[in-house]
Amino acid sequence: MSSFMVKREENESVQFPVTQIRKDFPILDTEIHGRKLVYLDNAATTQKPVAVLNALAWYYQHDNANVHRGVHTLSEQATRAFEAARETVRHFIGAGHAQEIIFVRSTTEAINLVAQSFARPRLGPGDEILITEMEHHSNIVPWQMIRDQTGATLRVVPINNKGELLMDVFEQMVSSRTRLVAITQVSNALGTLNPLREIIHKAKSHGATVLVDGAQAVAHLPVNVRDLDCDFYAFSGHKLYGPTGIGILYGRADLLESMPPWQGGGDMIRSVTFEHTEYNDIPYKFEAGTPDIAGAIGLAAAIHYLESLNLVQVHAHEQALLSYATEKLSGLPNLRIIGEAPRKSSLISFVVDGIHPHDIGTILDTQGIAIRTGHHCAMPIMNHYGVAATARASFALYNTMEEIDVLESGLLEVMKWFKK
Ligand code: ALA
Repeated sequence: MSSFMVKREENESVQFPVTQIRKDFPILDTEIHGRKLVYLDNAATTQKPVAVLNALAWYYQHDNANVHRGVHTLSEQATRAFEAARETVRHFIGAGHAQEIIFVRSTTEAINLVAQSFARPRLGPGDEILITEMEHHSNIVPWQMIRDQTGATLRVVPINNKGELLMDVFEQMVSSRTRLVAITQVSNALGTLNPLREIIHKAKSHGATVLVDGAQAVAHLPVNVRDLDCDFYAFSGHKLYGPTGIGILYGRADLLESMPPWQGGGDMIRSVTFEHTEYNDIPYKFEAGTPDIAGAIGLAAAIHYLESLNLVQVHAHEQALLSYATEKLSGLPNLRIIGEAPRKSSLISFVVDGIHPHDIGTILDTQGIAIRTGHHCAMPIMNHYGVAATARASFALYNTMEEIDVLESGLLEVMKWFKK
């Protein structure tokens, strides 16, 4: 028996019911250019199970009304479903109170909320914000804006060539001047899983507040914000098998209480005169205007779906996919994997000598294989590795070992195409 077979058997010994699970995702039956879709762009967005599609349709067909506003039955039904979704999210990430869960548009909006409402009023010259070299633009640009608005200093913890954070440098950089550490749990461009507990513990020992960008993490491993002891945690619904346009900011209640609202409008007020406005309680103080009600309900359906599969098993399945794909891709000529940290989430960024990543992506598409190519909204990482772009295959719970075989054959085709 070849080592390849042994590896496959080891990987498949997890016995994750992936064949059954794939039936929950109708889009996976799609054909692209006459080939069966192989969807490996899950770090950009995941596909949605029937449970989510049905929850959205049910809401619009049976419950649609505005929330927190009407005394009529439909408004009460919509409000109940919306607040039940908040409770589902609370339970999912282990927060203590539903009032610590704020519905926002996306991870990006959550980070901007913390930047403008937490950091901007508090920070000034002499204060420092620490981020890392592996952040994507959503966790860089809002802090550059705060630096420019407050005079605070923005400092960047470097990574090594494997894509790991330099923890000794982090320990030298964090100090009593550090007011905020904003860090990703998983790098979207490298896959690196950061040692968050250690980072948070260290940051807190210096009195810093910690924001975790969980966009690439929550769909792949169990998260408990109280265990982590972070102050803020941000993520998006659409990378978690839920709809686009809905995201979550978790914030510790005492911090949220102390923060001014970021946006003004309906629902975030208790009373308004032309002279004065009294703001609503948390979380409503941060939810101005009609929220994405259907999005919140769809997100809750996605969480219920994921919980029914057990995130520990999902994680094991995806790790098996990652190690099989790493072995396969490492064996291909002139292919270099970018990001080789020992603890990684289920994605692989790579470059192939002499072939532009966009060409790789375009040719793979002709074979029905969807990957992402480009800078992955993380240009500083591309600069670190001296590349303009990478190709990235990212795996989700419905991907299979066979799809990785298809990716490998697809890449061999790409290489043949470019062979002179
Ligand atoms: N940040 C998303 C990605 O990595 C869009 O693709």
